[in-house]
Amino acid sequence: MGAAAFVWPLVSQMNPDASTIAAGAPIEVDLTPIATGQDIKVFWRGKPIYIMNRTKKQIEEARSVPLASLPDPQSDQARVKEGHDNWLVVIGICTHLGCVPLAHEGDYDGFFCPCHGSQYDSSGRIRRGPAPLNLPVPPYSFVSNTKIQIG
Ligand code: FES
Repeated sequence: MGAAAFVWPLVSQMNPDASTIAAGAPIEVDLTPIATGQDIKVFWRGKPIYIMNRTKKQIEEARSVPLASLPDPQSDQARVKEGHDNWLVVIGICTHLGCVPLAHEGDYDGFFCPCHGSQYDSSGRIRRGPAPLNLPVPPYSFVSNTKIQIG
């Protein structure tokens, strides 16, 4: 009885509650339900995070663009994890004035911000419109082939 009473608080402390997650605890996301060409949106530190399972075509498009033509030059390879090139993870907050862009919209098969028309490509890089910078990539890592930890 004494042992059981002792164990419970430890287990309880190992699972962050909603307020702890909101305060910035890392979150784990299972990628298996996200089919190729689809995306999901999760929240980390109160921010929307897009996780996109990119198609071959989206990756090729992102990698065929001359960096010098980009407003905020950054290679696609620098924005994804090596060996997991199909997965794009970005903070879904427009770098213009903070609206949430829509995924799979716009002329670049990436994201479109309906507030003032900024267009991001399939790497989350700004391509057109008033936003000055790419969508930021949050800190994350692969804990397995099908799971990431954000934060
Ligand atoms: S807030 Fe996105 S274009 Fe202005």
